Amino acid sequence: MKKKFIYVFAVLAAGLIVLNACRHEILHPGNGGSGTGGGTGGGTGSTNTCSPDTVYFVNDIMPLISSNCTMSGCHDAITHAEGVNLTSYDRIVRYVSPGNASGSKLYKEIIKTGNDRMPPPPMPAFTAAQKALLQKWINQGAKNNSCVGRCDTAVFTYSGAIKPIMDAKCAGCHNPNNLGGNIDVSTYNPLKTVALNGKLYGSVAHQLGYSPMPKGAAKLSDCEITQIQKWIAAGTLNN
Ligand code: HEC
Repeated sequence: MKKKFIYVFAVLAAGLIVLNACRHEILHPGNGGSGTGGGTGGGTGSTNTCSPDTVYFVNDIMPLISSNCTMSGCHDAITHAEGVNLTSYDRIVRYVSPGNASGSKLYKEIIKTGNDRMPPPPMPAFTAAQKALLQKWINQGAKNNSCVGRCDTAVFTYSGAIKPIMDAKCAGCHNPNNLGGNIDVSTYNPLKTVALNGKLYGSVAHQLGYSPMPKGAAKLSDCEITQIQKWIAAGTLNN
C-alpha cells in the first residue's frame, strides 16, 4: 500500500495528472473472454440473456475493477488516489472513450509496462485476457449493460467455476502481494485453507460473524454462492 502511494505521488509530481487505474487479475467464467459460456457459463435454464460475444459492465468489468483498483489506498471513494475514484459506472466512464479503447486512459494505463503500469508493481499486472476483456468492452461502446443466466449451479469444479469467480471478484485483494485480511484466494492451496475453516462460505454468504465479501462490491449471485457451497461439500477438490 505504501509503495503504491509513493508511486501515485510520483506520477502526480511528474505532471501526469491523468487517471490511474490500478487493477490486475480477473477472468470470468469462460477463459477471461466475454464469458463465452465456458466455466460457470452455459445455458442451464431458459433465462440466459448473456450473449457470448458481448462484454458486460455489471458482470465482467465492475468485478474486475472492484477487485483490482478500488481497494483501500487506491481508487476507492475515500482515498481516490490522484483524484480518481473508480467505484461506479459513471465514474469509470470518465476515463473511457466509448468505442475507442486505444484512446481511453483506463485502457492505456493497464497496458503500460514496468513501473508505469496500473496496477503498479508489486501488484500483478492484468493478464492478456483481462486486458482484452476491457478493450472489448470499451470498443463495444462501454455500455452500462448486464445479463443473467451465465452461471450454472451444475458446474462446481475448481477450474470450471471456483477459480474464475476468485479471479474475477476476489484475487485482486487476496493474492501474495496484496493479502487482505492475510488471506490468499488466488491459488488452490491457500483457498482450500479458507474453505475448510469456514471463512470462505461464511464471507460470501454474508453469514453472521464473518466479514461480508467481496468487500465493497455487490454480493455474489445465489448461483455463484451455490457453486462455492457445492464445491466445498464435494470435498474442496483441485479439479
Ligand atoms: C476490495 C478488496 C476485497 C475484495 C474484492 C475481496 N476482499 Fe475479502 N477481504 C478484504 C479485506 C481487506 C479483508 C480483511 C478485513 C475484513 O475482514 O474486512 C478481507 C477478508 C476476507 C475474508 C476473511 C473474513 C472473515 O470474516 O474472517 C475472507 C474469507 C475473504 N475476504 C474472502 C473473499 C472472497 C471469497 C472474495 C471474493 C468473492 C473477497 N474476499 C473479495 C478485501 C477484499
